[in-house]
Amino acid sequence: MALFLIYFSGLQGNSCTRVSYPTRTMCVLQGTSVNISCTYSHPPDATLNSTYWFKWRANQEPSDLQSDSEYEGRAEYPVEETGRSTLRITDLRVTDSAEYRFTFKTSHYKWKSILHGTTLTVTGLRVEVTPVATVTEGQRVTLTCITSCPLADKPSYIWYQNNGPVTGSENPKNQLVLDPVGLQHAGNYSCSVRNYPHLRSPEETLTVQCTMTLQGNDDWTVTCTSSNVCSVRGSTVDISCTFKYPEKQHDLSTTVLETLWFTKEDRNQKPVDLLSDADYTGRVESSCGEISCIGSSCNRKCTLSITDLRQSDSAVYNFRFKTNQPGGEHTANPGVALTVTDLQVKVSRRDGWSIYLECDSMCGNPPIIWYWNGQYVGQARSYGDYINSIDSFSCAVEGYERLHSPSVCKSTPSLSTATHEVNNFRVTKIGQIKYQNQL
Ligand SMILES: *[C@@H]1O[C@H](CO)[C@@H](O)[C@H](O)[C@H]1NC(C)=O
Ligand SMILES: *[C@@H]1O[C@H](CO)[C@@H](O)[C@H](O)[C@H]1NC(C)=O
Ligand SMILES: *[C@@H]1O[C@H](CO)[C@@H](O)[C@H](O)[C@H]1NC(C)=O
Repeated sequence: MALFLIYFSGLQGNSCTRVSYPTRTMCVLQGTSVNISCTYSHPPDATLNSTYWFKWRANQEPSDLQSDSEYEGRAEYPVEETGRSTLRITDLRVTDSAEYRFTFKTSHYKWKSILHGTTLTVTGLRVEVTPVATVTEGQRVTLTCITSCPLADKPSYIWYQNNGPVTGSENPKNQLVLDPVGLQHAGNYSCSVRNYPHLRSPEETLTVQCTMTLQGNDDWTVTCTSSNVCSVRGSTVDISCTFKYPEKQHDLSTTVLETLWFTKEDRNQKPVDLLSDADYTGRVESSCGEISCIGSSCNRKCTLSITDLRQSDSAVYNFRFKTNQPGGEHTANPGVALTVTDLQVKVSRRDGWSIYLECDSMCGNPPIIWYWNGQYVGQARSYGDYINSIDSFSCAVEGYERLHSPSVCKSTPSLSTATHEVNNFRVTKIGQIKYQNQL
């Protein structure tokens, strides 16, 4: 808003004489230039002898700025229409901050105003770091580009780190917030305002210290229910991992940004999200339970379900979670090694007449169920018998009866159905068939 100050020279008592300044205060950046203007009028019968601008100082006679050595080559009065005058000061210095007034003389008269002119404040730029210039990673740091007065036209501010512009930093707010601050933020910072990129503030150094990696390491863990899982081909497996993190670190509340299951990494060593892996389309599901916080430690369990298991699903499944904290990314170590197995009936001959059957898998010793000629026989680790001519056998893992092994047929002369004991196997009769149960 232009402020018109119209003052009459009371001493001379001439109502036709006046000087007015449209702008009472100005805030201008050091190194730029300024135009300070006024309009004036004088008695119509008098001819102007001289006009000039001066820096107002209490109890000092006004002296023309153009003859002041401080303003040499920097102050000029561009030619203006009658009744108007402009003082232009270029290459502004902070010491130019002052009140500027205009005066004129006619042959009989000298304008002597005791009233205000235009007050100019010339400001530099300065970077201030809060709370301190030496911080620990993870803290919140605010850099402020400070001026000693509010610049006109609310310019945008631009930030520089080690002389390079900080991408995306241009903003009408004079602040750059680093939250959370990381090691990559350390360096020398300066600021400038739009249109004057060459007029930068002096640099301020921001020092970022590492958090001690040993301290509080237990606060971040990923634990999976088991490091080895074996499942039968065609079945469904659930793999669960629980991750733990501190609720807060350096006053910053932890937010979990991402959880991820993966078995492979891409060319850039970035994990490939299993949910988007074509090999698993329609067969995987990931879900996470509620977050539970006890004291200052939070945990959450996530489960990956894979259905219709294939042998090619055998792999180490890794779980990773990512938070907003610096370095707040953790991967289960070890992951979960999944083995997908087929079942096979292995036949060995005991003696001339009996045979011994084992249900072979890569899964150690799961509880096995036997089938004789398609009929359920019972549960046993292995099976030994004198066998009738054309009998067929298959096995399955208990709980996965649907997924039994291919059948094997043996034609062996039948001699006896008598109870038979081999080592520590007791042979029990079920219908026409005996199976062995380990004692
Ligand atoms: C001062 O006035 C001149 C002439 O009108 C103009 O070219 C210049 O941009 C002005 N300077 C400022 C800082 O406003
Ligand atoms: C008016 O200006 C002339 C020169 O331009 C000067 O000789 C004269 O002394 C001035 N008069 C006053 C009253 O300053
Ligand atoms: C930051 O400034 C200091 C002091 O001028 C200098 O020693 C240091 O090398 C600078 N750092 C960078 C990263 O430019």
